[in-house]
Amino acid sequence: MSSIRSVIIPAAGWGTRLLPASQSVPKELLPIYDRPAIEWVVEEALASGIERVIFISARGKSSILDHFDRHPLLESILQRSGHEAWAQRIADRNRSADFIEIRQGEALGLGHAVLCGEPCIQEEYFAVMLPDDLYLGEPPALGELIALHEEKGGCVLGLHTVERQQSRQYGMVAGEQISAHQWRLEDMVEKPQPEESPSCQAITGRYLVHRSLFDILRSQNRGALGEIQLTDGLRRLAQEGLFHGLVPRAARFDSGSALGLLIASLAQGLKSKDAAALRHAIEELTSS
Ligand code: UTP
Repeated sequence: MSSIRSVIIPAAGWGTRLLPASQSVPKELLPIYDRPAIEWVVEEALASGIERVIFISARGKSSILDHFDRHPLLESILQRSGHEAWAQRIADRNRSADFIEIRQGEALGLGHAVLCGEPCIQEEYFAVMLPDDLYLGEPPALGELIALHEEKGGCVLGLHTVERQQSRQYGMVAGEQISAHQWRLEDMVEKPQPEESPSCQAITGRYLVHRSLFDILRSQNRGALGEIQLTDGLRRLAQEGLFHGLVPRAARFDSGSALGLLIASLAQGLKSKDAAALRHAIEELTSS
């Protein structure tokens, strides 16, 4: 059994980068190949041993939780029309974890969204997954973070290597490299200029943190619009205790942009039963 049982998935953002697709459909439900983006994220969580999934959602986004609910009418229609396997899939998905929704009434930042999940977290350590960072393939990215936590203790952050010029777009970490894919972290800097970036390792949307983060976020200074920044809280955690960073081996995609969503769909399609037909279609499209 995994030592980490709960994950908070902040999904209350507006998804402006995906407009107009995300205007009336939560971006987390836009498809990647044959299923909503959020289902891939939840599959990664379950494969990593997670048993409780807490969605931080917002007005108009309850369909995210609906996707993981039972659907008696659809299930009976599927059963009667010879699609028992599809009906079973709905039931199995619902039983695979406890799914909980908490509303974030106002979008007051990622740190605030994580804080909204506090009433559902009973354990010392818990996970946070940002659904825009999509990891496809083996081993499950969150599972690698959990394994490192079990080996060395403390908090663990997902990292991805970027060109130094891109540091302005990311939270970047400072620390000591301890193996090919692992770092011991000392500090983090939000969107530094390339020449000031302490490394080429950017923070990605997988975190394994101690619950003292909640107290840190609660007492943190708020931004001009009242937002609570998650990176500020993580920074305090890194300065106070043991914190590692790890570059997961699974392929990473940005499902918060139209291009990233399309690339992830193609990558997944090329691994599917439709691979040959997809290759043929790509050849036709690119040869004309
Ligand atoms: P972003 O600000 O990067 O994404 O938040 P967004 O708002 O969803 O999308 P864009 O940038 O407008 O296209 C990162 C993650 O934090 C969540 C978002 O849902 C996303 O998963 N978030 C952000 C919240 O849950 N609440 C917030 O107040 C802010």
